[in-house]
Amino acid sequence: MLPLKLDYRYLQPEISAASIESWQAEIDLADSRVTKGTGLGSDFLGWVDPSAIVAKDEVAQIKTLAKRIQDNSEHLVVVGIGGSYLGSRAVIEALGTGAGPEVHFAGNSLSAHYHTSLLNKISGKPYSINVISKSGTTTEPAVAFRLVRAALEAQVGKDEARKRIVATTDEKKGALRHFATQEGYDTLRIADNVGGRYSVLSPVGLLPIAVAGIDIDALLAGAIDTAAATKDAKVLSNPAAFYAAARNQLYRQGKEIEILASFEPRLHFVAEWWKQLYGESEGKDNSALFPASVDFTADLHSMGQWIQQGRRSIIETFLIVDGGEPSMTIPAGGNLDELGYLEGKELAYVGDAAYRGTALAHRDGGVPSMTIHLPELSAYSLGALLYFYERACGISGYLLGVNPFDQPGVEAYKKNMFALLGKPGSEKATTEVKARLAAQTGDTTVKFA
Ligand code: PA5
Repeated sequence: MLPLKLDYRYLQPEISAASIESWQAEIDLADSRVTKGTGLGSDFLGWVDPSAIVAKDEVAQIKTLAKRIQDNSEHLVVVGIGGSYLGSRAVIEALGTGAGPEVHFAGNSLSAHYHTSLLNKISGKPYSINVISKSGTTTEPAVAFRLVRAALEAQVGKDEARKRIVATTDEKKGALRHFATQEGYDTLRIADNVGGRYSVLSPVGLLPIAVAGIDIDALLAGAIDTAAATKDAKVLSNPAAFYAAARNQLYRQGKEIEILASFEPRLHFVAEWWKQLYGESEGKDNSALFPASVDFTADLHSMGQWIQQGRRSIIETFLIVDGGEPSMTIPAGGNLDELGYLEGKELAYVGDAAYRGTALAHRDGGVPSMTIHLPELSAYSLGALLYFYERACGISGYLLGVNPFDQPGVEAYKKNMFALLGKPGSEKATTEVKARLAAQTGDTTVKFA
């Protein structure tokens, strides 16, 4: 039995089993586009069969590199942005035990403060770098790689630094591939047909995850078993198909935002990963649900009010871990704090009441929700969850009518940024952007008198 199930009781009355079943023909078509490559973006379906994303010898290489980093480093700096870091960060934050090298993430901002703090933290300590970029040309990680590489070279010398750098990039193209070849770094390959946000189960995610001491075989097994179980796209017996159909039905009914809500702080970055997956895959052609996330119970005391009574444009998906957590009971302490009635009760018991109370309250407040249940947080169940979301995203994007595997909109800010920075090759854009900025006359700042 797969470790993931979906409960749709609180989607009713907007959605019923019968209304979801009416999606079956559309689901069959969308799913066949994913599995047979007959839809838009079919060059990027390398993730669909997770048993083929990494070859056996690549898994062995990843384990060898991870062991080397564990043996010779106290820190690993993972340099990447978007799909090149969110997946590994999600898994490491969810499952990391804190044993082994501390994993840091760089290159996902242009913050001088962040990178200064990071360099201060690792300075003088043995560290390794895993620089990850499929295109090999993304500015943020390229800048961060220079920073951490220069510091490493200053610390241990160029030759030793080379042995502490692993580059994960395209097999042949891109600046990072060429640089890695010239410097003689160990490299891992990102297949042409695996896009960034679908790459967590490829070498992109697997090396940092393995360095953190997480069982990558179990992670892959969870994904492989889920892929096998999703072969049949029957909408009432396939949570991925159901999820894709339900969110599209609610979108067609006028909902605008999907909120992923978790009660487990370790899942914060799973939600961040999910937002990228759905945001970049579906946010095109002026359409799609806006993916947002909240961390309960903390956000019940901030966003809870909005969710309960704000504009009724939202749906909610709860991500719930049913067990496997450490036992922690509420100690004796009298009743002055009015907690006597909870004495001896497990925190999980209180947390379960918080989840069930919230789902019921939000339903009463007009928010349809579904719940994805995992029996526990393990490498296997997380592998299943990641694949579930990927597969559902491919289907959902095709139901929506977009190409779920490109991200043309990401280029717009880069074009302007390169123009402003005067990147060679951007001369025409520089002239245009500067002219547009110059045309913005008049003072638009508001100052205190
Ligand atoms: O999903 C995607 O393709 C993007 O989010 C990329 O992962 C992100 O832009 C980073 O790109 P790259 O790995 O080429 O540096």
